[in-house]
Amino acid sequence: MAAEPSPCAAVDDAFFQPADSFFPAQQGVALTYDDVTLATQYSEILPRDANLETSLAEHLHLQIPIISADMDTVTESRMAIAMALNGGLGLIHYNMPERQQLSEVTRVKYHVHGLIQEPIKVSPDQFIGDVLTLIEERHFSFSTFPIVDDQDHLLGLLPGHVVRPRYAGRKVSEAMMPRASVQTIAERELQPDPIGRADRFFNEHLGIHKLLVVDDADRLRGLFTLSDIERITQEKAAPLKPGRDSQFRLLCGAAVSATRSSTGELDHARIVRHVAALVERGVDTVAVSTAHGFSKGVGETVRSLRDAFPELPIIAGNVTTASAVEYLARCGANAVKVGQGPGSICTTRIVAGVGIPQLTALYVCGKAAQAAGVAIIADGGISKSGDIVKALALSHAVICGGLLAGCPEAPGQIIEINGKPYKQYRGMGSPAAMKAGSAARYGHSKDTARKVAAEGVEALKEVSASLDSVMTQLVGGIQSGMGYLGAPNLAELRRRARFSRITPAGQRESAPHDIVEVKTGASNT
Ligand code: XMP
Repeated sequence: MAAEPSPCAAVDDAFFQPADSFFPAQQGVALTYDDVTLATQYSEILPRDANLETSLAEHLHLQIPIISADMDTVTESRMAIAMALNGGLGLIHYNMPERQQLSEVTRVKYHVHGLIQEPIKVSPDQFIGDVLTLIEERHFSFSTFPIVDDQDHLLGLLPGHVVRPRYAGRKVSEAMMPRASVQTIAERELQPDPIGRADRFFNEHLGIHKLLVVDDADRLRGLFTLSDIERITQEKAAPLKPGRDSQFRLLCGAAVSATRSSTGELDHARIVRHVAALVERGVDTVAVSTAHGFSKGVGETVRSLRDAFPELPIIAGNVTTASAVEYLARCGANAVKVGQGPGSICTTRIVAGVGIPQLTALYVCGKAAQAAGVAIIADGGISKSGDIVKALALSHAVICGGLLAGCPEAPGQIIEINGKPYKQYRGMGSPAAMKAGSAARYGHSKDTARKVAAEGVEALKEVSASLDSVMTQLVGGIQSGMGYLGAPNLAELRRRARFSRITPAGQRESAPHDIVEVKTGASNT
């Protein structure tokens, strides 16, 4: 039963206001996460039932509204895989050669998606010793291999139990299970539901763990493993599902810059060629990622990509004004990144004196986004799950850098200082990152002979728990916030949010205080 409207509701309405009354009343003052708090509301929602799905474009839906930043100390394929497995999205950074970015995307798209299309094969003339070396060198966790001739015709299967050092001198052909005894399935029998078909096969064939797929000429076309199929079928029942595309591959995004030629002109042909290659690899979205999205170069880049790829979800940014959102939406962006200078490693506001604190920026940008029918993404400045709840009261998703940079899934080595493990975390506008390639993001050339003003710092983050644990904390925090607001989904969270300003004393009251803390809670997530 819903709560009855009462005279008390008028008291609440006067003090705790919806965004459209609250933010206009603060005109001229820009607020960020710690400046406000959200009022709790009558609720019939259990946190665990709160639905976190979000849509950033017609063809870009996420199970959870969290994206890992396109930074060279945050997102490469390992982070993007872990993010997608948790239902979010990773944006692969562009501080690497274009070819390498393509293979990072490929790695994500081909991570356990059911049918392994390029299985590792061996030839009958190899020795078992060669196979053992291959396993060691490439760190394979499996030891059963299909055996093919040089035209990929299936000759048999090398079972794991013969791949042992004692047989190292024996040829694969002596140890293999012959073709006639190997269970296979024809490629044409897989449609319309390859996973369901493989699942049925494994049910019917007790003890068989690998199913080889062949074409009509008996050439090897792929491989299913029982463990992958079990993982995928279990996923279907899990409350938080991985983010997958229509072919059951993990979702993956990639950032691109507004690349210029040596004469300083935008290199449209090169940008479109690179994005075409990303699309061919299966990328689900590209983010035209720069420090100043309300600029001719970014607009023109978005426009050429929209013309070349009418269906591709395009994210663009970063901006902090309504006019900028309107501009990028007109150029063809589906989602706009909001955030100039809030990041934990950013110095843009100090160096250039520009940028707007996040909540006011999100509100202002959100007005234009609503009118233009695009999504907005809160990028930077998030240091705890409560910030995400406040951000989602005004946006469709958040981008996190610093919160994830200490995870083992982030690129980079662990550095030990006084016995404590750390990982490097640096701004893409820091001198080292710009030298490595990100200068274009800040409107500079990579030419180190020219002195440019850095807009980011190089820092360290304490090594944190795995991405899975961090996500569990973040998702739990968001759902908790939604429970307090009685919001079953993110659209309702936006509708029901009631804001109030807090003072420094209120902020002090919000964190643990006047105690000797013996065990730190997950307050940083
Ligand atoms: P957090 O707070 O999550 O912020 O660590 C990550 C976001 O910060 C932006 N970014 C920068 N901004 N100088 C800046 O002014 C920089 O060097 C820099 N590097 C990253 C970016 O939007 C990222 O997602």
